[in-house]
Amino acid sequence: MTKKRLVIANWKMYVHTPLEAKKFAQSLRRKTRAFAGVEAALAPSFALLPVVAAALKGSSVRVGAQTLSGHEEGAHTGDVSAAMVKAAGGTFSIIGHSERRLTEDNEYVHKQLVLAATNGLAPVLCVGECERSQDGAHFSFIAEQIRSALTGSQSLAGKLVVAYEPVWAIGKSAVDAMKPEVVRETVIFIRKTLAEVLPREQAMRIPILYGGSVEPENAKELFIEGGVSGFLVGHASAQVDSFVGILQACKK
Ligand code: 13P
Repeated sequence: MTKKRLVIANWKMYVHTPLEAKKFAQSLRRKTRAFAGVEAALAPSFALLPVVAAALKGSSVRVGAQTLSGHEEGAHTGDVSAAMVKAAGGTFSIIGHSERRLTEDNEYVHKQLVLAATNGLAPVLCVGECERSQDGAHFSFIAEQIRSALTGSQSLAGKLVVAYEPVWAIGKSAVDAMKPEVVRETVIFIRKTLAEVLPREQAMRIPILYGGSVEPENAKELFIEGGVSGFLVGHASAQVDSFVGILQACKK
Protein backbone atom coordinates (compact mmCIF):
# COMPACT_ATOMS: atom_id res chain seq x y z
CA MET A 1 0.00 0.00 0.00
CA THR A 2 2.14 2.81 -1.18
CA LYS A 3 0.15 5.27 -3.23
CA LYS A 4 -1.87 7.88 -1.47
CA ARG A 5 -5.12 7.10 -3.31
CA LEU A 6 -6.48 3.67 -2.62
CA VAL A 7 -9.80 1.90 -3.10
CA ILE A 8 -10.34 -1.59 -1.72
CA ALA A 9 -13.20 -3.88 -2.78
CA ASN A 10 -14.51 -5.87 0.15
CA TRP A 11 -16.50 -8.50 -1.69
CA LYS A 12 -17.90 -10.00 1.51
CA MET A 13 -20.10 -12.87 0.19
CA TYR A 14 -21.32 -10.98 -2.87
CA VAL A 15 -19.09 -12.72 -5.44
CA HIS A 16 -19.72 -16.43 -5.41
CA THR A 17 -17.89 -18.58 -7.95
CA PRO A 18 -14.31 -18.84 -9.24
CA LEU A 19 -15.59 -18.08 -12.74
CA GLU A 20 -17.38 -14.91 -11.62
CA ALA A 21 -14.29 -13.80 -9.66
CA LYS A 22 -11.92 -14.51 -12.53
CA LYS A 23 -14.06 -12.60 -15.03
CA PHE A 24 -14.22 -9.60 -12.69
CA ALA A 25 -10.44 -9.65 -12.16
CA GLN A 26 -9.70 -9.95 -15.88
CA SER A 27 -12.09 -7.14 -16.71
CA LEU A 28 -10.60 -4.89 -14.01
CA ARG A 29 -7.14 -5.65 -15.33
CA ARG A 30 -8.16 -4.47 -18.78
CA LYS A 31 -9.48 -1.21 -17.34
CA THR A 32 -6.52 -0.15 -15.17
CA ARG A 33 -5.67 2.80 -17.43
CA ALA A 34 -9.10 4.25 -16.70
CA PHE A 35 -8.10 4.80 -13.07
CA ALA A 36 -4.37 5.45 -13.39
CA GLY A 37 -2.94 7.03 -10.24
CA VAL A 38 -5.40 5.29 -7.94
CA GLU A 39 -4.41 2.00 -6.36
CA ALA A 40 -7.06 -0.72 -6.61
CA ALA A 41 -7.23 -3.74 -4.34
CA LEU A 42 -9.60 -6.70 -4.15
CA ALA A 43 -10.50 -8.65 -1.02
CA PRO A 44 -12.34 -11.80 -2.15
CA SER A 45 -13.39 -14.60 0.18
CA PHE A 46 -10.64 -17.10 1.03
CA ALA A 47 -12.14 -19.62 -1.42
CA LEU A 48 -11.68 -17.18 -4.31
CA LEU A 49 -8.36 -15.64 -3.31
CA PRO A 50 -6.06 -17.96 -5.35
CA VAL A 51 -8.03 -17.55 -8.58
CA VAL A 52 -8.16 -13.76 -8.21
CA ALA A 53 -4.46 -13.58 -7.34
CA ALA A 54 -3.60 -15.66 -10.42
CA ALA A 55 -5.78 -13.50 -12.70
CA LEU A 56 -4.10 -10.30 -11.44
CA LYS A 57 -0.52 -11.56 -11.25
CA GLY A 58 1.88 -8.96 -12.64
CA SER A 59 -0.78 -6.22 -12.66
CA SER A 60 -0.97 -3.19 -10.39
CA VAL A 61 -4.10 -4.47 -8.62
CA ARG A 62 -3.47 -5.86 -5.13
CA VAL A 63 -5.21 -8.90 -3.70
CA GLY A 64 -5.83 -9.62 -0.03
CA ALA A 65 -8.11 -11.25 2.52
CA GLN A 66 -11.21 -10.06 4.32
CA THR A 67 -9.90 -11.28 7.68
CA LEU A 68 -7.38 -13.71 9.10
CA SER A 69 -6.90 -15.85 12.16
CA GLY A 70 -5.58 -14.37 15.38
CA HIS A 71 -3.66 -17.63 15.82
CA GLU A 72 -0.43 -18.49 14.11
CA GLU A 73 -1.25 -22.16 13.45
CA GLY A 74 -2.68 -25.31 15.01
CA ALA A 75 -6.09 -26.61 16.07
CA HIS A 76 -8.39 -23.81 14.88
CA THR A 77 -11.02 -25.37 12.67
CA GLY A 78 -12.15 -23.07 9.89
CA ASP A 79 -9.47 -20.44 10.48
CA VAL A 80 -7.07 -19.19 7.82
CA SER A 81 -3.68 -17.98 9.00
CA ALA A 82 -1.73 -14.95 7.82
CA ALA A 83 0.90 -17.29 6.34
CA MET A 84 -1.82 -19.09 4.34
CA VAL A 85 -3.16 -15.79 2.99
CA LYS A 86 0.35 -14.86 1.93
CA ALA A 87 0.94 -18.25 0.29
CA ALA A 88 -2.36 -17.89 -1.60
CA GLY A 89 -1.13 -14.65 -3.16
CA GLY A 90 -2.49 -12.09 -0.68
CA THR A 91 -0.52 -8.97 0.14
CA PHE A 92 -2.88 -7.41 2.69
CA SER A 93 -5.72 -8.28 5.02
CA ILE A 94 -8.73 -6.38 6.27
CA ILE A 95 -8.73 -6.66 10.06
CA GLY A 96 -11.40 -5.82 12.61
CA HIS A 97 -14.28 -5.31 10.18
CA SER A 98 -17.46 -4.62 12.16
CA GLU A 99 -19.04 -7.77 10.74
CA ARG A 100 -16.16 -9.71 12.35
CA ARG A 101 -16.15 -7.69 15.56
CA LEU A 102 -19.49 -9.26 16.43
CA THR A 103 -17.36 -12.09 17.84
CA GLU A 104 -13.82 -10.66 17.81
CA ASP A 105 -12.78 -8.13 20.44
CA ASN A 106 -10.08 -5.45 20.50
CA GLU A 107 -7.54 -7.84 21.98
CA TYR A 108 -8.09 -10.33 19.17
CA VAL A 109 -7.82 -7.55 16.58
CA HIS A 110 -4.44 -6.62 18.04
CA LYS A 111 -3.24 -10.23 17.63
CA GLN A 112 -4.45 -10.33 14.02
CA LEU A 113 -2.64 -7.10 13.30
CA VAL A 114 0.65 -8.39 14.68
CA LEU A 115 0.32 -11.65 12.73
CA ALA A 116 -0.48 -9.81 9.51
CA ALA A 117 2.56 -7.60 9.87
CA THR A 118 4.97 -10.34 10.91
CA ASN A 119 3.90 -12.34 7.86
CA GLY A 120 4.45 -9.44 5.51
CA LEU A 121 0.79 -8.54 4.94
CA ALA A 122 -0.34 -4.92 5.06
CA PRO A 123 -3.03 -4.60 7.76
CA VAL A 124 -6.16 -2.65 6.84
CA LEU A 125 -7.52 -1.85 10.28
CA CYS A 126 -11.26 -1.09 10.42
CA VAL A 127 -12.62 1.17 13.13
CA GLY A 128 -16.01 2.79 13.56
CA GLU A 129 -18.81 3.42 16.00
CA CYS A 130 -22.14 1.59 16.07
CA GLU A 131 -24.00 4.84 16.63
CA ARG A 132 -23.17 8.50 17.10
CA SER A 133 -24.10 10.17 20.33
CA GLN A 134 -24.63 13.79 21.35
CA ASP A 135 -21.96 13.59 24.04
CA GLY A 136 -19.27 12.44 21.60
CA ALA A 137 -18.92 8.96 23.11
CA HIS A 138 -18.31 7.63 19.59
CA PHE A 139 -14.95 9.42 19.56
CA SER A 140 -13.77 7.60 22.70
CA PHE A 141 -15.02 4.34 21.19
CA ILE A 142 -12.96 4.87 18.03
CA ALA A 143 -9.90 6.02 20.00
CA GLU A 144 -10.01 2.86 22.09
CA GLN A 145 -10.21 0.69 18.97
CA ILE A 146 -7.10 2.41 17.61
CA ARG A 147 -5.12 2.40 20.85
CA SER A 148 -5.82 -1.23 21.66
CA ALA A 149 -4.95 -2.32 18.13
CA LEU A 150 -1.68 -0.42 17.87
CA THR A 151 -0.23 0.10 21.31
CA GLY A 152 2.98 -1.86 21.63
CA SER A 153 3.05 -2.46 17.88
CA GLN A 154 4.52 0.78 16.64
CA SER A 155 6.58 -1.13 14.10
CA LEU A 156 3.33 -1.91 12.23
CA ALA A 157 2.87 1.67 11.12
CA GLY A 158 4.87 1.36 7.90
CA LYS A 159 2.29 -0.66 5.98
CA LEU A 160 -0.80 0.21 7.95
CA VAL A 161 -4.02 1.45 6.34
CA VAL A 162 -6.95 2.56 8.50
CA ALA A 163 -10.55 2.30 7.29
CA TYR A 164 -13.19 4.35 9.06
CA GLU A 165 -16.48 2.49 8.77
CA PRO A 166 -19.36 3.79 10.89
CA VAL A 167 -21.43 0.64 11.42
CA TRP A 168 -24.74 2.47 10.99
CA ALA A 169 -23.80 3.58 7.46
CA ILE A 170 -22.82 0.15 6.14
CA GLY A 171 -24.86 -1.70 3.55
CA LYS A 172 -27.28 1.05 2.63
CA SER A 173 -27.63 3.26 -0.44
CA ALA A 174 -25.48 6.27 -1.22
CA VAL A 175 -27.98 8.73 0.26
CA ASP A 176 -27.55 7.11 3.68
CA ALA A 177 -23.77 7.39 3.71
CA MET A 178 -22.15 9.66 6.23
CA LYS A 179 -22.08 13.33 5.28
CA PRO A 180 -18.70 14.35 3.85
CA GLU A 181 -18.12 17.03 6.48
CA VAL A 182 -18.67 14.50 9.27
CA VAL A 183 -16.31 12.07 7.54
CA ARG A 184 -13.71 14.85 7.43
CA GLU A 185 -14.11 15.66 11.11
CA THR A 186 -13.78 12.00 12.06
CA VAL A 187 -10.77 11.45 9.82
CA ILE A 188 -9.02 14.36 11.55
CA PHE A 189 -9.81 12.78 14.90
CA ILE A 190 -8.48 9.38 13.75
CA ARG A 191 -5.27 10.99 12.48
CA LYS A 192 -4.80 12.79 15.80
CA THR A 193 -5.30 9.55 17.72
CA LEU A 194 -2.83 7.73 15.45
CA ALA A 195 -0.28 10.45 16.19
CA GLU A 196 -0.68 9.80 19.92
CA VAL A 197 0.12 6.13 19.51
CA LEU A 198 2.64 6.16 16.65
CA PRO A 199 5.57 8.38 15.69
CA ARG A 200 3.95 11.54 14.35
CA GLU A 201 5.65 11.47 10.96
CA GLN A 202 4.41 7.93 10.34
CA ALA A 203 0.93 8.71 11.58
CA MET A 204 0.66 11.54 9.05
CA ARG A 205 1.42 9.17 6.17
CA ILE A 206 -1.11 6.43 7.00
CA PRO A 207 -3.88 6.29 4.39
CA ILE A 208 -7.31 6.69 5.99
CA LEU A 209 -10.20 5.29 3.97
CA TYR A 210 -13.93 5.69 4.42
CA GLY A 211 -16.40 2.82 4.10
CA GLY A 212 -20.19 2.78 4.35
CA SER A 213 -22.61 3.08 1.43
CA VAL A 214 -20.01 4.37 -1.00
CA GLU A 215 -21.28 4.21 -4.58
CA PRO A 216 -20.18 5.90 -7.83
CA GLU A 217 -22.86 8.56 -7.17
CA ASN A 218 -21.41 9.86 -3.89
CA ALA A 219 -17.75 8.87 -4.18
CA LYS A 220 -16.42 12.10 -5.69
CA GLU A 221 -18.00 14.34 -3.07
CA LEU A 222 -16.90 12.06 -0.24
CA PHE A 223 -13.39 11.91 -1.64
CA ILE A 224 -12.95 15.63 -2.13
CA GLU A 225 -14.79 16.91 0.93
CA GLY A 226 -14.25 13.96 3.25
CA GLY A 227 -10.47 14.34 3.38
CA VAL A 228 -9.91 10.62 2.84
CA SER A 229 -7.25 8.72 0.87
CA GLY A 230 -9.88 6.50 -0.71
CA PHE A 231 -12.53 3.95 0.16
CA LEU A 232 -13.28 0.49 1.47
CA VAL A 233 -16.30 -0.54 -0.60
CA GLY A 234 -18.81 -3.30 0.07
CA HIS A 235 -21.87 -3.89 -2.11
CA ALA A 236 -20.88 -1.45 -4.87
CA SER A 237 -17.59 -3.30 -5.36
CA ALA A 238 -19.23 -6.49 -6.59
CA GLN A 239 -19.86 -5.13 -10.10
CA VAL A 240 -16.78 -4.13 -12.01
CA ASP A 241 -18.32 -1.00 -13.55
CA SER A 242 -19.45 0.50 -10.27
CA PHE A 243 -16.11 -0.35 -8.64
CA VAL A 244 -14.27 1.36 -11.52
CA GLY A 245 -16.63 4.33 -11.17
CA ILE A 246 -15.53 4.72 -7.55
CA LEU A 247 -11.86 4.36 -8.49
CA GLN A 248 -12.28 7.09 -11.10
CA ALA A 249 -13.91 9.40 -8.55
CA CYS A 250 -10.56 9.40 -6.70
CA LYS A 251 -8.52 10.48 -9.72
CA LYS A 252 -6.80 13.86 -9.78
P1 13P B 1 -21.12 -1.11 1.98
O1 13P B 1 -20.27 -0.41 0.96
O2 13P B 1 -21.96 -2.19 1.42
O3 13P B 1 -21.86 -0.13 2.82
O4 13P B 1 -20.12 -1.86 2.97
C1 13P B 1 -19.09 -1.13 3.56
C2 13P B 1 -18.16 -2.11 4.16
O5 13P B 1 -18.49 -2.75 5.14
C3 13P B 1 -16.87 -2.31 3.50
O6 13P B 1 -16.01 -3.03 4.29
